[in-house]
Amino acid sequence: MLMSSLLLGGLFLHQPLVAVPLIALVALLYWLVKHNYKFWEIEGVPYPKPSLLTGNLGPTLSLKKHISELASDWYNAYADKPFVGYFKIFTPAIMVKDPVLVKNILTRDFDCFANNDILMDKHQDPLLAHNPTLATGDRWKRSRAMLTPSFTGAKIKQLFPVMESVADAFVTFIGRQVGQELEAKEIAARFTTQNIVACTFSIDGDCFAERESEFRRMGRRVFDTSHLATLKMMMAVFLPTVAKYIPVPFLLKEVDEWIRSLVANLIIQRSAAEGTVEEDLLQSFLKNKEKSNATQTEITAHALTIFLEGFETSSNVLGFNLYRLAKSPEVQQKLYEELKSKIDANGGRLDFDVMQQLDYLDW
Ligand code: HEM
Repeated sequence: MLMSSLLLGGLFLHQPLVAVPLIALVALLYWLVKHNYKFWEIEGVPYPKPSLLTGNLGPTLSLKKHISELASDWYNAYADKPFVGYFKIFTPAIMVKDPVLVKNILTRDFDCFANNDILMDKHQDPLLAHNPTLATGDRWKRSRAMLTPSFTGAKIKQLFPVMESVADAFVTFIGRQVGQELEAKEIAARFTTQNIVACTFSIDGDCFAERESEFRRMGRRVFDTSHLATLKMMMAVFLPTVAKYIPVPFLLKEVDEWIRSLVANLIIQRSAAEGTVEEDLLQSFLKNKEKSNATQTEITAHALTIFLEGFETSSNVLGFNLYRLAKSPEVQQKLYEELKSKIDANGGRLDFDVMQQLDYLDW
């Protein structure tokens, strides 16, 4: 601050014609930013005090706190408030806390809240643009309408034996590692990748046999974006207007080409083997293809969505659970007893209906 005042002071003495408009511009910008930060005060919404250049995200942008830690701080600081305002750098945003309001936003009033934070450009990212967690408006509606018929209770029940055989292979795999230190997230990702590949493509993903199977490698590559794409992702969340002008795709070309060729080859194989193909998720998309008039890019995009959403989310949850269970033998024992008693009562089988009765696991 002192340094910049000295610089401006020096400039004012030596170059007054440059200094006066410059100082006026700085003062105007300062006023605009300060005025912008009055947004929540004017709306009568409580909010934590923003800093001049980073709004309320300073600790996250400087990598001192994860955004969820910040959210938790605000949640606790405004314990009795139904919502809290904050600034995503300069953009006013709101964190809803009241469970009834949250429910209304996600159900009754969802029509008004269907849009996402991140805008995906369909020319730069033709596959990710169809992912319903990233799409907005009509594209979101269309993707969702194409995906939901494949996720009925009956379909999941039908896929249960596939998941069961992957789980058996996982048990054998773990049996071979006894006495070795294991990274919970990694073994969970091997399981969920093997599982989603089996359920979507009816392919053995080789995730237990090989450390670096093709599907695990591609699963990692999906999140291996370039530095510019990482910057664009941050901008997409914090300064969306700037993100639009960064002309790089989020998905690496290698991954784009890999999934397109995988799906194209499977479609060719299946059309040749009519009548004998597995009823997996890809087949379910292909069955609905005519009805929804889906293009091959859309079918490929949905296969990518399921691959991505199906392994990374679940492997995070499973990895943390495995880790916590390993750290808490008494909880592990209780869970084991619940599972054993329900499986024994079902003639030694863990099936879809038994899964619905596991109260301790759910808790
Ligand atoms: C523990 C595991 C999982 C967690 C924590 C999780 C979490 C989420 C969350 C928070 C969303 C909402 C995202 C948003 O609206 O922006 C979402 C959407 C979605 N998830 Fe998952 N998910 C999990 C497993 C899965 C699996 C296994 C699949 C598919 C096989 C899947 C497919 C999807 C799809 C297609 C959507 C988009 C739905 C829509 O926008 O209509 N998820 N998931």
